[in-house]
Amino acid sequence: MKKLTIAIDGHASTGKSSIAKKIAIKYGYIYINSGSMYRAVTLFAIENKLLGELNDNIDLFIEKLHAAFINFRFNENNLISEIFLNGRNVEKEISSLEISNYVSKVAAIPEIRKEMVKLQRNIDRKKGVVMDGRDIGSVVFPDADIKLFLTASDTVRANRRFEEMINNGLSVSYDDILNNIRIRDSLDSSRTDSPLIIENDAVVIDNSNMSINEQIKQIILLIDKKIVN
Ligand code: CDP
Repeated sequence: MKKLTIAIDGHASTGKSSIAKKIAIKYGYIYINSGSMYRAVTLFAIENKLLGELNDNIDLFIEKLHAAFINFRFNENNLISEIFLNGRNVEKEISSLEISNYVSKVAAIPEIRKEMVKLQRNIDRKKGVVMDGRDIGSVVFPDADIKLFLTASDTVRANRRFEEMINNGLSVSYDDILNNIRIRDSLDSSRTDSPLIIENDAVVIDNSNMSINEQIKQIILLIDKKIVN
């Protein structure tokens, strides 16, 4: 059976990673959350007090970043590839609002995007890949077999992210989350390098009023049609 490359792009907090994980598990594909890579770079910059270098000396920052090691390891318990920074599992830390407040500025820097795209393209696509992000269908894998673009109203998204963070024991305010989502959408869509755009051949899913299962059903139909063709 044909193994596909599936690109899932879209606005902030549209549930891309939840859907990508379920699809990857169903088809036995590799799942990569490219946003977590930009978040890990942001964590690296904050922890090593390198936010200044990001603005003033990007060459020095990239040199230091080369000495760092960002990779994914498959967790047998939850069947998910988790992100590691210098050998440390940073899945939890990168989901904080502090990282969310910096990440879009870090991700707008062309030199950083070049490094991340290199890592993303290193993945062995023969086994089938689901990758979610902002530029997967447009820049990373323009030849993807299926391109999805997820969106939803910003208040619905803020509500979902708020509940998710509260359930994870984080203390956050709904207004701060809504604000962060709006700012990230605007920065991600307006940057010069690899902005968030809807590709002509992308299937747009507005999931404001859809359950995850409804979305999965729709996506499975698209995949199954491609696998047999
Ligand atoms: O919060 P959400 O899961 O929607 O975002 P994310 O996928 O974790 O991505 C965090 C941020 O990384 C985005 O707001 C973008 O600024 C950046 N990003 C990017 O520029 N390109 C990607 N392929 C993925 C993420």
